[in-house]
Amino acid sequence: TEPLKIALAGLGTVGGGVIRLLEANAALIARRAGRPIEVVAVSARDRSKDRGVDLSRFRWVDDTGALAVLDGVDVVVELIGGADGPALALARNSIAAGRAFVTANKAMIAHHGLELAEAAERRGVALKYEAAVAGGIPVIKGLREGAAANELAHVYGILNGTCNYILSTMEAEGRDFAEVLAEAQALGFAEADPSFDIDGVDAAHKLSILASLAFGTRIDFDSVAVTGIRHVIAADIAEAAALGFKVRLLGYAETRPDGLFQRVHPHLVPVAHPLAHVSGSLNAVVAEGNFVGRLLFEGRGAGDGPTASAVVADLIDIARGEYGPAFAMPVSALADRPAADAGEG
Ligand code: HSE
Repeated sequence: TEPLKIALAGLGTVGGGVIRLLEANAALIARRAGRPIEVVAVSARDRSKDRGVDLSRFRWVDDTGALAVLDGVDVVVELIGGADGPALALARNSIAAGRAFVTANKAMIAHHGLELAEAAERRGVALKYEAAVAGGIPVIKGLREGAAANELAHVYGILNGTCNYILSTMEAEGRDFAEVLAEAQALGFAEADPSFDIDGVDAAHKLSILASLAFGTRIDFDSVAVTGIRHVIAADIAEAAALGFKVRLLGYAETRPDGLFQRVHPHLVPVAHPLAHVSGSLNAVVAEGNFVGRLLFEGRGAGDGPTASAVVADLIDIARGEYGPAFAMPVSALADRPAADAGEG
């Protein structure tokens, strides 16, 4: 059978993970996908950097944008990041050229996901982004497919591994914010611009995507009220602990009579709540459906292995020919809800 042929843009932490995973589990993936999945071309900023993977068998393309129209490619995988710029150009051009498109880019999906999904619908190609929210946790599929039959009352969770790592390490070891942030960066969880993590922007990107999937509404990133963890100090955490709480950065969304409520801010979580036990770079998402009841998704929200796992799951779906709309339904059918007042953020 014909392999599914992949062009890969971006060879950072996640890109290297995707190549390693496709290699390590090649036989299993081919069985499950019904055909082999092969990377045929790669592109990244720096060709000479040692990534611990053998790139010699792939075609190296200097101009990342050219991956959109490369002959013999079925799927373009974008792991460059950034809401706009080269990632967005690659997405638009790949879809226009009739390629399926897989991305881990939550900023781009939060800002331009509807436009890209509409283009993908018109062109009849898949747009997939499982890795964009909560890394390895299959929460996009979980909400879009698994909980599809339910009315969902709310969706919330721990959506940023860097913040959770910082808060739970400060808590366990009473250590200083800056020192722990440097550690998270060294572990490969943090964004290129770590202010996106600690100021809550990354969690807000993810929350706006989850809210759209949960409620069948258009993505509305601009109305998420956001407060990050920059001002949380070790003494706050110690005081919360003395009162029976943990400090966690949560994203919370619900539909209210006046519209869509979306907010990211540090919460006091009672120690008995399941989210209080989510430590380190773990993420967790809770959703409440009217027939299924409470769902709790937990797992690793960042890092090469978990994120690659989600990217390759999307590739397996495409290889199987199993794909529907990128969001809860075709873009034209998504509800346009006003933003409920979520405070100043
Ligand atoms: N910087 C993100 C995080 C990476 O810390 O969760 C995964 O999206």
